[in-house]
Amino acid sequence: MGGAMKTGPTGAALAMDGSDATFRWMIRADFDRVMEIERQCFGEFAWSREDLFNAVSAEDVTGHVIERGGDIVGFVLVAMGEYHRTILNLAVDPLCQRQGLARWVVEREKDKVQSHVRRRYLEAAVWERNVGAQQFFRACGFRCVRTFENAWECSDDAAYVFRWNQSQGGE
Ligand SMILES: CC(C)(COP(=O)(O)OP(=O)(O)OC[C@H]1O[C@@H](n2cnc3c(N)ncnc32)[C@H](O)[C@@H]1OP(=O)(O)O)[C@@H](O)C(=O)NCCC(=O)NCCS
Repeated sequence: MGGAMKTGPTGAALAMDGSDATFRWMIRADFDRVMEIERQCFGEFAWSREDLFNAVSAEDVTGHVIERGGDIVGFVLVAMGEYHRTILNLAVDPLCQRQGLARWVVEREKDKVQSHVRRRYLEAAVWERNVGAQQFFRACGFRCVRTFENAWECSDDAAYVFRWNQSQGGE
């Protein structure tokens, strides 16, 4: 604890650094709430329930939910490669954004990269129009390392690939 506090949607005092949040494996019973957050965050471009199921069922993908006061307030899906981890999806309930939750999740991911023998970096692909997410990854020490045109089936947006290398230590 010790982060600055403000009042959350339930009226409870919330820490601003994720320190009052918990993190656990996503289970199928979480899907309704996870899909609700996904739709609130991505609207017409949200993953379908099938996309979510396929992602968490993949052998190399881990899914976790962020809980606060017993409520799911966010989630993250991460794919594990030999030399890196890729954040496939990361979303926080709009009512709980800008309270340090996603940064807390990303710091956990960095720790996992740093403690692994071969993995060296953490990546995430962000839609061209998703300026808020781009600013978020920059604030977490990521840099845009490449762009892909026509990267998504449902949009003309380019994909911006953000990377954090463990050798840069986030600088
Ligand atoms: C991107 C997202 C995950 C960030 O979650 P969050 O919990 O609100 O992020 P944090 O509170 O940890 O933000 C840490 C820092 O990132 C930056 N940041 C985060 N969101 C930002 C935004 N919308 N605009 C500008 N900067 C932002 C800020 O520097 C922030 O620090 P500050 O609040 O002290 O200024 C959240 O906005 C979200 O769910 N967006 C919709 C889904 C999405 O785009 N996911 C990412 C692609 S997979």
